[in-house]
Amino acid sequence: LQLVGKYIQPETKEVNGILVTKMISENWDNIWNFQARPDDLLIASYAKAGTTWTQEIVDMIQNDGDVQKCQRANTFDRHPFIEWTLPPPFNSGLDLAEKMPSPRIMKTHLPVQLLPPSFWKENSKIIYVARNAKDTVVSYYHFSRMAALLPNPGTWEEFVETFKAGKVLWGSWYDHVKGWWDAKDQHRILYIFYEDMKEDPKREIQKILKFLEKEIPEETLNKIIYHTSFDVMKHNPMANYTTFPISFLDHSISPFMRKGMPGDWKSHFTVTQNEEFDKDYQKKMAGSTLTFRTEI
Ligand code: A3P
Repeated sequence: LQLVGKYIQPETKEVNGILVTKMISENWDNIWNFQARPDDLLIASYAKAGTTWTQEIVDMIQNDGDVQKCQRANTFDRHPFIEWTLPPPFNSGLDLAEKMPSPRIMKTHLPVQLLPPSFWKENSKIIYVARNAKDTVVSYYHFSRMAALLPNPGTWEEFVETFKAGKVLWGSWYDHVKGWWDAKDQHRILYIFYEDMKEDPKREIQKILKFLEKEIPEETLNKIIYHTSFDVMKHNPMANYTTFPISFLDHSISPFMRKGMPGDWKSHFTVTQNEEFDKDYQKKMAGSTLTFRTEI
């Protein structure tokens, strides 16, 4: 960590043109050579897409709706974040993953081209969750303000430009969502959307169940919907990141479980900013069959 002005700043570096923390870049060979297993389940996403939410849903499914079992540990200890590298005494994603007995559930924000190739070789199942760009940039901005391990976002106006240019950790949102979209038909990937989950959690959880080849009673399904709702997760210390040291995550600046609402971007974008964003968006997403809803 470096002190830049009054901010603690992580140093960043690029790996194949994608911005990552310096700690990730220094650990890159190990990350790239990570050994996946055929019964692994990977939850992949761009930052702030609803990863934690999906993790909680999957954990509830795997534990047949047993809330206590899902409170056995923090989200970040239950599901190793494979590329996330921290100095000792903190556990890095790789250490946690290697020690974990199968079947493992893991998380990544890597763009598809940087996914350790053993995941493809072992044909592990992957759930990719995507969220519309406007709500993602808002959520990413507030998270960057409260998370000391992420680069300081600057002002909202500045951050929108940095986001559009893809000069944020894990690179361009546009390339990320398109890259995984294009990969989904060649691999065992379930591609889901934050907005759909919000609109009809039951329908989306049923998609996940089918993908995981799992059947559960209606009562369990209803329990999962309730336990993974925004309001319940917001008050669950094992899912809301409040157990993380305040020097890393300062929820008094902006809580991790912030709004959880599609369309919150409307309270951030000015009319001009929105028009410019849309114009740039059309260019960057041209030719793709992937579409998003920016409100529900
Ligand atoms: P907001 O900042 O818009 O509130 P990730 O887990 O990928 O970092 O994503 C975090 C975003 O998902 C935050 O968005 C957070 O509030 C939202 N989120 C987390 N759990 C949720 C839930 N159960 N329902 C809806 N949104 C949720």
